[in-house]
Amino acid sequence: MNALERDFFTDPELIRDPVPYYRALGEVGPVFREPHHGVFLISGIQEILDVYADHATFSAVIAPLGPFVQLPEPAEGETVADVVANRSDEIPVSGQLFTLDPPKHTRHRALLTKLFTPNRLKENEEFMWTLAERLIDEFADRGEVELCRGYAGPFTLLVIADLLGVPREHHERFRGWLQGGRTPVAGDTSGMAGGDQVFANLHPYFTQYIEDRRAAPRDDVLTHLAQVRFPDGALPEVNDVVRIAATLFAAGQETTARLISAGMRVLAEQPSLADELRATPEAIPNFIEECLRLESPIKGAFRLALRDTRIAGVDVPMGSIVMAMNGASSRDSRVFEDAHRFDAKRKNTRRHIAFGHGEHFCPGASLARTEARISIERLLARLDEVRLVDPSALSYTPSFILRGLNDLPLHFRRRS
Ligand code: HEM
Repeated sequence: MNALERDFFTDPELIRDPVPYYRALGEVGPVFREPHHGVFLISGIQEILDVYADHATFSAVIAPLGPFVQLPEPAEGETVADVVANRSDEIPVSGQLFTLDPPKHTRHRALLTKLFTPNRLKENEEFMWTLAERLIDEFADRGEVELCRGYAGPFTLLVIADLLGVPREHHERFRGWLQGGRTPVAGDTSGMAGGDQVFANLHPYFTQYIEDRRAAPRDDVLTHLAQVRFPDGALPEVNDVVRIAATLFAAGQETTARLISAGMRVLAEQPSLADELRATPEAIPNFIEECLRLESPIKGAFRLALRDTRIAGVDVPMGSIVMAMNGASSRDSRVFEDAHRFDAKRKNTRRHIAFGHGEHFCPGASLARTEARISIERLLARLDEVRLVDPSALSYTPSFILRGLNDLPLHFRRRS
């Protein structure tokens, strides 16, 4: 069967390995209307940048769920743009930062940007170094670890907890929620529609933190979070602030965990590259960019066409669903030479768009890069001869949005 005849959103074979589909997209050109759901798949870097930048034409209201969002039917005389502007409360998952359009998006995004102060990021980075050592200490003597649960999951969760100022004495409780894993939600193949234990649990905690700090401010990060204001000076509802915290966990934890495990899988498969990076840790950031390019933890994001438009000469009617295929675009041969080859020294690898572009460009990009750099550096420094326990038994997240490993059993020799 030609790869493009498969259903990109549900075919289990493509969950395990989407590359044949990405390759086939590259052959048909930057725009392809897939036959199962009628979604326009955009796989060229420039075409995606154009879509991401045109917020007036392409709404993010369906960003994480695309064709699985039931949009309200426009009434007589109503356009799709009217529905998005006036009836977004009838659209599932709308109201989250990543589904808002300007100007509402701009206002809410400003709240989040205020949390990423240079000082907070510096303290957070110091926490990352300590946390990495602490987590590695837990398994270093055993000679083997399932890296997703033993390191990548708790590391990325606790880094965000620390960024937001969750008291240290609550960290173990937050970590415990990860063990519960995902509670499957009927019909949720995206992996992002909720139902996750962590998010259900953190809501009451953050509500309490914000209410407490508003009633009795202290000199701590949670007080800063509780007092953050919109650009016009208005104080957000407690629920809006809780939602920021939940969004950071939702968008930043599983993605970065998958980047770390993807990097360690590559190093377990290429021991000479692992030795090279141990000897020259300054080459780790470029290695991470190449992991982002070829193993983009977000496969893509959806947009809704608010008017009739054209992308690369292809007509895209009003109401169409478009998917910016960040993962596939990393193989755009117009931009990357020998695009399918993993090259840790690739010079232009940072031209990948794994973090998106435009108003919704990932606000956690630099945080994720720092987390991955510190993790890879410390894991390589502490563990030698890292190998896959069973190369044939790797399992991937069943999601059309997230790309990455569920389990990464490794064995190794302790170095120090
Ligand atoms: C390797 C890790 C990560 C990848 C690949 C990634 C990728 C992305 C992408 C592609 C988008 C844009 C989605 C769209 O345009 O619809 C996005 C948005 C977002 N990311 Fe990340 N992300 C990562 C890590 C993080 C981290 C660590 C955080 C924060 C702790 C974070 C927070 C967010 C938020 C809040 C948004 C929504 C921004 C908005 O809509 O304005 N991400 N991310």
